[in-house]
Amino acid sequence: MDSGLEHVVAAETRLSHVDGDAGRLIIRGRLVEDIAASERFEGVAHLMWTDAFPALPGPAGLATALGEARMQAFRSMALPPGDGDIVRALRLGWARLPDDETLETALLLVASAPVLVAAAVRAARGLSPVEPDPALGQSADFLRMLRGVDAAAEEVRALDAYLVTICDHGLNASTFAARVVASTRAGLMSASLAGLSALKGPLHGGAPGPVLDMLDDIGAPDAAEAWIEAALQRGERLMGFGHRVYRVRDPRADALKAALKWLPGSTGRIAFAEQIEREVLGRLARRHPTRKLDTNVEFYTALLLEALDIPRGAFTPVFACGRSVGWIAHACEQIAERRLVRPRSLYTGPMPEPAMSAG
Ligand code: ACO
Repeated sequence: MDSGLEHVVAAETRLSHVDGDAGRLIIRGRLVEDIAASERFEGVAHLMWTDAFPALPGPAGLATALGEARMQAFRSMALPPGDGDIVRALRLGWARLPDDETLETALLLVASAPVLVAAAVRAARGLSPVEPDPALGQSADFLRMLRGVDAAAEEVRALDAYLVTICDHGLNASTFAARVVASTRAGLMSASLAGLSALKGPLHGGAPGPVLDMLDDIGAPDAAEAWIEAALQRGERLMGFGHRVYRVRDPRADALKAALKWLPGSTGRIAFAEQIEREVLGRLARRHPTRKLDTNVEFYTALLLEALDIPRGAFTPVFACGRSVGWIAHACEQIAERRLVRPRSLYTGPMPEPAMSAG
């Protein structure tokens, strides 16, 4: 029995490989830091989906198809609730999509995510949604739909780097959830909803908002030591640190740190965050001398999304905008396996009384 399944290999994949000892993430044969620096979101979606859909158009055709799907999503979309719960808005929007295993549904899922997230953020601010521009790339269009004005080129590039960096990551909790659901042949929408539901938890994709809460709460570098100590004494986990697979620094942290440098306005915040990062790493090393706990992707995710002026409540759904590409690719791999995922459990409850023998 292995309750966290950490030593269980439950899928074979051609999509991505997490080398936790070397701190390497390989996506379709390329290092994450390389594709983050060079690929756009659409290029990576193409890379991830080539085996999944025989009718997949080339990268330029896929960008066009995603633009058209954003328009389709916008026109058919019910207005998201303005209560500020952006994960719920994305769930509600996705739940209205068809639930089959086609490329059209895959496109709608990935294209509707930024439309729904932008509209939900605006609704919470009392603003009406902004219609997509299908001629733009998905990152540029998301920032434009969010703000109502075009984003600067370096902001678009930084968001592309983010979405590329987090598009896939081996058999993480949300991807596993998506594969389990796909194995029942429930459909790509159900698999994506399962992924999103798993992603939302603070131990997975829900961490970056709390990273900023932590930085705000600490307030100044000289308050860090006491704050960290008190949090650990209360048994809390420090958000943005530690990982189930990495025994060294998460390579995505540095891919995002590199992208942050394209956004010069964030320099002061980064310098402060780096001081806190050093304090946390030092304290965790003293507390767990035999278990190396290092910075994970969520620490620099928080700083990058904040620098792009994306509100904290939208961090997890923006993560889903990128990761949905990976969920769908994995769901298609699982469907091609033609094997229901159905592990066993170890029963530890009471057993029935032995039957009384007659006479
Ligand atoms: N802060 C404080 N202590 C920690 C942290 C942390 N961030 N991470 C692990 N530890 C502690 C554990 O409590 C455990 O202590 P114990 O032995 O006294 O019980 C010890 O370090 C070893 O823990 P692991 O077995 O390495 O942790 P696990 O694999 O169960 O958890 C996880 C991994 C969930 C990511 C954890 O490190 C964590 O909670 N981090 C904070 C949340 C976070 O940043 N999540 C985002 C992850 S990246 C992603 O999913 C996109």
